[in-house]
Amino acid sequence: MKRRSISIVPLFALATLYLQGSTDALLQHRKFKASSEPNVLTGRYIVEFAQQDATYPFAKSLSDTFDKDVKIHEQFTHDLFAGLSFNLDDPNPSAVTASSYDDKLQSLFDHDHVTAVYPIHAIQRPELTATQVREDDSIAKAIAPHHLTQVDRVHKELKNTGKGIVVGIIDSGVDYYHPALGGGFGKGYKVRYGEDLVGDKYDSNQPNPIVRPGPTPLDKCGAASGASGHGTHVSGIVAGKSANFTGVAPDATLGMWRVFGCTGSTGNDIIIKALLKAYDVGSDIISLSLGDNSGWTEGPDTVVASRIAKKGTIVSIAAGNAGASGAFTVGSPSTGKGVISVASFDNSNNLVYKFKATGFSDAIAYASGESGKFKTGDLVPGDNKVGGTQDACDASTIPAAVKGNYGLVKRGSCTFSIKAANLAKAGAIGVVVYDNSGGDAFTPSAPNAPVPVLGVGQKDGEALLAAVKKGKVSLTFDGKLSPVPLASAKTVSSFSSVGASYELDLRPNIGAPGGDIYSTLPRYLGSWGLMSGTSMATPYLSGSIALYLKARGKNVKPAYVLEDFQNYAFKAPAQNGVKGIDSPLRQGAGLIQVYDTIKQNIHLSPGEFSFNDTSSNQHKTQTFTITNHGHSTVHYQISNNVSLAVAPYDLAKSGYTYTQPISYTTDAAKLRISKKSIKVAPGKSVKVKVSVIPPKSDPKKHIMYGGYVQLKSSNKKNGLDLSIPYFGVVGHQKDLPIFDADFPYLSSDSDGKVAYEKNDTFVFHQRNKTASAFIITRLITPTPLLQADVIDVKTKKVIGKAFPDQTYLARHTLNPGEQAQALRWDGTYLPKSNKPSSLKGVPVPHGTYNLNVKALHVFGNPKSKKDFDVWTSGPIKVTN
Ligand SMILES: *[C@@H]1O[C@H](CO)[C@@H](O)[C@H](O)[C@H]1NC(C)=O
Ligand SMILES: *[C@@H]1O[C@H](CO)[C@@H](O)[C@H](O)[C@H]1NC(C)=O
Ligand SMILES: *[C@@H]1O[C@H](CO)[C@@H](O)[C@H](O)[C@H]1NC(C)=O
Ligand SMILES: *[C@@H]1O[C@H](CO)[C@@H](O)[C@H](O)[C@H]1NC(C)=O
Ligand SMILES: *[C@@H]1O[C@H](CO)[C@@H](O)[C@H](O)[C@H]1NC(C)=O
Repeated sequence: MKRRSISIVPLFALATLYLQGSTDALLQHRKFKASSEPNVLTGRYIVEFAQQDATYPFAKSLSDTFDKDVKIHEQFTHDLFAGLSFNLDDPNPSAVTASSYDDKLQSLFDHDHVTAVYPIHAIQRPELTATQVREDDSIAKAIAPHHLTQVDRVHKELKNTGKGIVVGIIDSGVDYYHPALGGGFGKGYKVRYGEDLVGDKYDSNQPNPIVRPGPTPLDKCGAASGASGHGTHVSGIVAGKSANFTGVAPDATLGMWRVFGCTGSTGNDIIIKALLKAYDVGSDIISLSLGDNSGWTEGPDTVVASRIAKKGTIVSIAAGNAGASGAFTVGSPSTGKGVISVASFDNSNNLVYKFKATGFSDAIAYASGESGKFKTGDLVPGDNKVGGTQDACDASTIPAAVKGNYGLVKRGSCTFSIKAANLAKAGAIGVVVYDNSGGDAFTPSAPNAPVPVLGVGQKDGEALLAAVKKGKVSLTFDGKLSPVPLASAKTVSSFSSVGASYELDLRPNIGAPGGDIYSTLPRYLGSWGLMSGTSMATPYLSGSIALYLKARGKNVKPAYVLEDFQNYAFKAPAQNGVKGIDSPLRQGAGLIQVYDTIKQNIHLSPGEFSFNDTSSNQHKTQTFTITNHGHSTVHYQISNNVSLAVAPYDLAKSGYTYTQPISYTTDAAKLRISKKSIKVAPGKSVKVKVSVIPPKSDPKKHIMYGGYVQLKSSNKKNGLDLSIPYFGVVGHQKDLPIFDADFPYLSSDSDGKVAYEKNDTFVFHQRNKTASAFIITRLITPTPLLQADVIDVKTKKVIGKAFPDQTYLARHTLNPGEQAQALRWDGTYLPKSNKPSSLKGVPVPHGTYNLNVKALHVFGNPKSKKDFDVWTSGPIKVTN
């Protein structure tokens, strides 16, 4: 045995599926899409039916069977989704694994109408903190992003403000009494549609979430509640309007379906409900600034979003803010087929506070979630090894000298909340965090931190570090905001999640301004402020689409709208002085250019290419069609405009480790283009074939190359340049290991601190009803299917499964709490049987066993043994 120190997904994970009171029959049912995602909610399920009229009878059967022990949450009788969500409290679980409800549930779920049973997932609230800005700050005008996207020209030259277009928002509610948001709710008001689906106290992570729906989506949580005002900020970006502020589509009509309480997370059954309601009122665009960390497309909320898009309503969804964790961090539901996944670009200016520091002639810019008038105090190192990679992540490395002072630490490794909590515990009066990737002053998101947390640029941080090492540095604050230009203007925000989807669809699809965006806040938070996130980019795109629909008519198909925006997007260079165009895996087609998108008449379809990996020739050649909807003939030269490639893995370390954040390479593909020069007459279309010759990089590295098929116009008056983003992977995704090096391993505790080696015998005492062995897994690659066999060491035969199959697991990251997962084995097995629906866990006979854990490779065939990554445990001796 040895000690290991890693950070494991707490509590949730498979272990919870076996807690007393859970319903095993369900979990072992062939229709159950089990998943050990960290955000699975214990004992809560969504059942989907083949037909709408199955919902009520099924609800009745559930109630008749389980009486007070069942709580039915949502019932759906929609043509896009028939189903219900419920939880079951089993008062008498009969054995360690078997619930007293087993057989009854078996027969209910056997019913033909039931097509699938899903666990309910928690969708975390986007943790963003606003920098509040005083109302009379006319400088707010100076940071409006509309010149970056041509929205200023659409307002001014086209007099288009989106009037009559309905944008349905799914978020934390809205303070519609805010004067810039119309001052009321319902007919005749800007916020016309919507409702509160959950109430202030709702938090899906509570054991018994309190759901108190209300007739309007008003956010009146109050400053003391810890609410961030997210939905109000998002609403203002789409359609806010006041003397000093103009949203993207200031005359559009809004709907708001409130799915978050004042704090905490929501469930994906609530998201489904909100999606269907937003669709039913006739929203032209549905906007979701939320999501989880899984790049699969199979979750029920993702499926419903895709069905809505298929019906012709545009669904725009945030790609996620996990860019710091490297490739494959775009989350669902933005991975859904036919929905638009939105990346964030940085604004051209930021509003920052400045402090004076002893020995510095210029005041130093910082950003903070709190208004900036802080106590004068001294700055001291916030970690014994300040400037390292783990600053203040561990309370034991914090010097005593922080007491009564500000602690200086470097960004990275753990969350700002953890750093702040550790430093506050040691007596610090505040935290100054400096960037670790060359960036400017930034707002560290540390909700409810006990002390102020200030973010400064890397250069300033390093200068401060040198100064505090030399002598006393005192900080003084005047609390005034001033605009400063951002070096990162018009490039992809460092936090913006990186694609592709796990199944190699291009994600994100497109970008909009999301870094340092000024908009409305609830009046209880001072009415105005800055926030950063793909949460801001998404409503920006939604508002822009409102302008487009206003100009082009509401009946344009979602795919066509996205293509148009992609055709004319601005291709950004990489941030921080890296030479080259940024990868489509960061920016999709690029930053939207709304005026061009509306006014131009030449259309390319499709708007993006995925050349997939190099395991087959199937995706290597693709065709696009160029159509001239204008009045003059257009000529284009077609060429390959390569972007930087993404190197997702660091192979120098042990096996595959993600580069966090991603690193770039200059590996470039060649394109064979069937026509280098084309002429398209008005009303005509031309087809062009594009074949890829991937770069000759080492297939082990899985380099994600990319670029743009570039159409250069010979006469800009008749048509502007256009482009199509493309990407592909050199190597076979199927070859990627699922398990990270040194994983899985067996542990006696769920936090994985004690690791059993292959030659250690794990002794399992069955008389101890809570005895457990934990398989600690770390998935470097996501897997669609994870199975575990119990093998009798003597006979070398598989006696059955250790627990139900797990499906669609996300990849882990190096972030605390997301590094690994504990799968609990309770000493029972599911015997092999021809009747899968009658399975029940039974204790294994006394003896010695190995657990054989098999994870299916991405694009693997579940019927092919060699498509699994396999790990076998050391001996587990099961005795009395
Ligand atoms: C707009 O800005 C001006 C100048 O700072 C200020 O006087 C005015 O009160 C602001 N108006 C609103 C509605 O915030
Ligand atoms: C990539 O190829 C795999 C099969 O090798 C397929 O399952 C997947 O859908 C493809 N992805 C795209 C975006 O075409
Ligand atoms: C490639 O794209 C960049 C950015 O839009 C542009 O400046 C450059 O001219 C393009 N190169 C070619 C060969 O078209
Ligand atoms: C078990 O194996 C490890 C290396 O894998 C070795 O260091 C250790 O000595 C072995 N222990 C026993 C009891 O054989
Ligand atoms: C029973 O098992 C649990 C979990 O493995 C362990 O924490 C506990 O110490 C065991 N109790 C006894 C009496 O061995």
